[in-house]
Amino acid sequence: MGNGDSMTRAQNAQTLLIVDDERSLRFSIGEWARDEGYTPLEAAGGRDALEAIREQGVDAVLLDLKLGDEDGLKLLKQIREIDGSVPVVMLTGHGTVEHAVRAIKMGAYDFMLKPPDLDHLGVVLERALEHARLRREVDHLRAATRSAQPIVGDSDTLKKALTRLERAAKSGTSTVLIRGETGSGKELMARYLHDKSARVAGPFIELNCSAIPEQLLESELYGHERGAFTDAKRFKKGLFELADGGTLFLDEIGEMAPQLQAKLLRVLETRTFRRVGGAADITVDVRVVAATHRDLSKMVAEGRFREDLYFRLNVVPVEIPALRERSGDVATLAEHFVARFCRELGRTVVRIDPRALELMKAYAWPGNVRELKNVIERVVLLEAEEEILAEHLPAEMTRGAVGATGAAASGHAAVPARCRAAARGDREARDRACARRVRRQQDQGGRSAPDFPPDPANEAQGIRPG
Ligand SMILES: Nc1ncnc2c1ncn2[C@@H]1O[C@H](COP(=O)(O)OP(=O)(O)OP(=O)(O)O)[C@@H](O)[C@H]1O
Ligand SMILES: [Mg+2]
Repeated sequence: MGNGDSMTRAQNAQTLLIVDDERSLRFSIGEWARDEGYTPLEAAGGRDALEAIREQGVDAVLLDLKLGDEDGLKLLKQIREIDGSVPVVMLTGHGTVEHAVRAIKMGAYDFMLKPPDLDHLGVVLERALEHARLRREVDHLRAATRSAQPIVGDSDTLKKALTRLERAAKSGTSTVLIRGETGSGKELMARYLHDKSARVAGPFIELNCSAIPEQLLESELYGHERGAFTDAKRFKKGLFELADGGTLFLDEIGEMAPQLQAKLLRVLETRTFRRVGGAADITVDVRVVAATHRDLSKMVAEGRFREDLYFRLNVVPVEIPALRERSGDVATLAEHFVARFCRELGRTVVRIDPRALELMKAYAWPGNVRELKNVIERVVLLEAEEEILAEHLPAEMTRGAVGATGAAASGHAAVPARCRAAARGDREARDRACARRVRRQQDQGGRSAPDFPPDPANEAQGIRPG
């Protein structure tokens, strides 16, 4: 297989895999492809072709229908199993056009008679790549509409945060730093920013920096070349590359290790990086939105977070207020979640008794909106028949409403330990889910799109997909 180019690959050039048992044809198409600005890879048979797709990832395939003793149709099927989105153009002799038609039915993009007219080939390939790009875009849009969740609440503090996000959305690349307590809606706001921006058709990709071991985080972000470290059996694109044209949401940025903070700063400044073990510079167009529940300026003062990175991230700071600081939103949110869960359970909407609502407003909500959502779900599912009553609410909310009000006034310190543990439990379960996702992606060789739409079943338990 002629893949000597991979290390000096022209910046972001698209890779064309030419699969043909005729060496001279591979060579002439390869020369032509290089002149046209593609990075050509050659394979004489199925094994090499599949290896190239699996290990390097390619953008388009030119596949001979008759590969010596091998069946091009069988190979087409295998290619599509590995990467269902890569466009495949079949090369066929005069006698095998019916087979080419079968190939189209099996998902090939087009076919051309051999030897191909190179001008025509250029047009077909361009169209095939554009088609693949549009399909990816449609997939992203579908995922985005599936996951689009309304932002509920009309408190002034929330509105102020939303206005800031809308303004930031208009500036193409400026970095946004979202700060807020756990469960206050940081990820929801990051998606909102993406949806309001011109990048909406591009990917929204999320990474929780605290859920991934330090040594894996670098390759997760920037990708790696084959053999970059012991377990790097295949080449893998990083999230910065996958987020090209869209938004990369770095959650829990405060947990990032110092060496990685330094690399991130460079990337934010130049938009250019190298994969782990790679020699080629890769340039991307990505907006970074970072989030943290920590006080980063305090971490800077304590020497635990790089000051230069903090300033670089903090171009547009947005503070999401804790729920107890906007108790006016509690009723609206509670009614929203009641309606949603009743609808999902196919039940008529239950009412919220005024006294229950008062208790909810007075409570400190250490787990913020996520905790409120979980409480409502549990009550709708297990307790309430027609009405949510005070007695249906968790003990810490009813046991001496005075205590809860005190907690509300003094913030976190007075929050019952059990509530804090419950809120933490959500996070830990979520982080475990995220770590599992990353491991899965690595097992799959990293070609899968990582921005899975939220799984409602997980969301209900406060577990989010990565
Ligand atoms: N204003 C809101 N309207 C409707 N739903 C909300 C709102 N704010 C948060 N939620 C919901 O609450 C849950 C938690 O929100 P989200 O995951 O965005 O919080 P977070 O701040 O990122 O949490 P963490 O710090 O744990 O990462 C999600 O299910 C989200 O949809
Ligand atoms: Mg979050």
